[in-house]
Amino acid sequence: MLEIRNLAVDYGKHVALQGVSLDVAEGETVVMLGANGSGKSTLLKVIAGLVRPREGASIGFLDAPLLGRKAHEILERGVALVPEGRGIFPELTVAENLLLGAYPRRARSDEAANLAKVFDLFPRLAERRRQPVATMSGGEQQMVAIGRALMSAPRLLMLDEPSLGLAPVLVGELFEVLATVRESGISLLIVEQNVRISLSIADRGYLLEAGRIVGEGSAATLADDPSVQHAFLGVASDA
Ligand SMILES: Nc1ncnc2c1ncn2[C@@H]1O[C@H](COP(=O)(O)OP(=O)(O)OP(=O)(O)O)[C@@H](O)[C@H]1O
Ligand SMILES: [Mg+2]
Repeated sequence: MLEIRNLAVDYGKHVALQGVSLDVAEGETVVMLGANGSGKSTLLKVIAGLVRPREGASIGFLDAPLLGRKAHEILERGVALVPEGRGIFPELTVAENLLLGAYPRRARSDEAANLAKVFDLFPRLAERRRQPVATMSGGEQQMVAIGRALMSAPRLLMLDEPSLGLAPVLVGELFEVLATVRESGISLLIVEQNVRISLSIADRGYLLEAGRIVGEGSAATLADDPSVQHAFLGVASDA
């Protein structure tokens, strides 16, 4: 479904990604694990059309090239990003934020049905639909951000550190919801430092270190891999 080959990104002299190739199959959940500054957010931004890579890379989505397309065209094709720090509008209400997500042409006619699905997934958001998002808790704001991305009816949903800043019990709830999203057939590409919980819902994962992919495998293999445990599990396992 998503096919990335030979991706490199430079920020001035700093090389943020180098020789990155990866795949996400239809219906698959893939986790990209990496420490701070390894290039995880950069990768998602390139896919979403927000950062331009070096010449020589290719990104295909459903057999059509994505590179060079504008962010709104990529969303129109069914690739949605829940950015790090959520990117929601704090002064607007829950419902207003969600409806903003429905702007791709493809999603507009199903707006009411998609809103019902989001409220089904996050009953809390239905209760609070008229509340300004600024007054909601961090976990609730993350729900709004994910709900808004789902309003665009994505085929591939990308999440940038969804667990960041959430209490352990909320992280558990969040990943239960993501498991439900996954069941609905949407492919997921999740960037995380929380190794244990993200591998628990994933099919496969990659390890990113200083902009390069240094390992990949099934979720089960990675969870048992001593180098993964050494690199991450001791640091961010129970966050
Ligand atoms: N706009 C930018 N200009 C210059 N350097 C940048 C820019 N964005 C990111 N970088 C650098 O590129 C590297 C990768 O950044 P990126 O945000 O992709 O990492 P990350 O893996 O998402 O980290 P974190 O876990 O802290 O979110 C970092 O060294 C960062 O300082
Ligand atoms: Mg990041």
